[in-house]
Amino acid sequence: MIFRQLFDPASWSYTYLIAARSGGEALLIDPLRDQVPRYLKLLRHLDLKLVQAVDTHLHADHVTGLGELRRATGCVAAMGAQTRCELVDVRLRDGDLIKVDGLVLRAVHTPGHTPDSHCLVMQDRVFTGDTLLIGATGRTDFQGGDAGAQYDALFGRLLTMPDETLVYPGHDYKGRWVSSIGEERGSNPRLQAPSREAYIEIMAGLKLPPPKMIDIAVPANLNLGLTERRTLAGPTSAHNGPLDFATLAPFSGC
Ligand code: FE2
Repeated sequence: MIFRQLFDPASWSYTYLIAARSGGEALLIDPLRDQVPRYLKLLRHLDLKLVQAVDTHLHADHVTGLGELRRATGCVAAMGAQTRCELVDVRLRDGDLIKVDGLVLRAVHTPGHTPDSHCLVMQDRVFTGDTLLIGATGRTDFQGGDAGAQYDALFGRLLTMPDETLVYPGHDYKGRWVSSIGEERGSNPRLQAPSREAYIEIMAGLKLPPPKMIDIAVPANLNLGLTERRTLAGPTSAHNGPLDFATLAPFSGC
């Protein structure tokens, strides 16, 4: 199997490239518009044909690459069935299978961060989007977030997976790349909540600032990223200068 975990420093996002073999078909999970040239170069380098690109949810912190990748490669663009984006080709439902050149990924509906959040399970690993992060969970305070639903998804779906299942998140803000269900069950502070009510209380108390890109990213992503390019003004924009670590909210999970 070909597997690449690609990091975007502007949004602290991970994108995943998966393929069974060189010369075959490929899948991208959570691609960013700003990184599309990098993906296309990598696909050429590995002699892969992109056949599908999937977003784990409607992102608020970066513009999706789904639209530009579909234009460039003819790939299928997929998101969860609950997405507010009407331009997708495939609307994933719980239990749906994504098949790419013999590889199979199973969609698990995990609402909470957003109503359309899905995790993707493949062999020994799960791509958790912003539902489960390393040492945290995705925020639930905007875009239809629901901490109770997220608790149900975490404890009722993800934590029922074997301990050794590898966890590949949609973001990390501390330079970590991968974890496991067992590690997260044992040490993720959010997952130590003694009850659903306690979890809802923890999430309500986070009081995180809104993601810097939300006013640009959400409208763009409702259009599959096929909008005019805009950048943020101001000294704290991650696109206009060096990252300001002091202003970055840890675990904002947007
Ligand atoms: Fe998110």
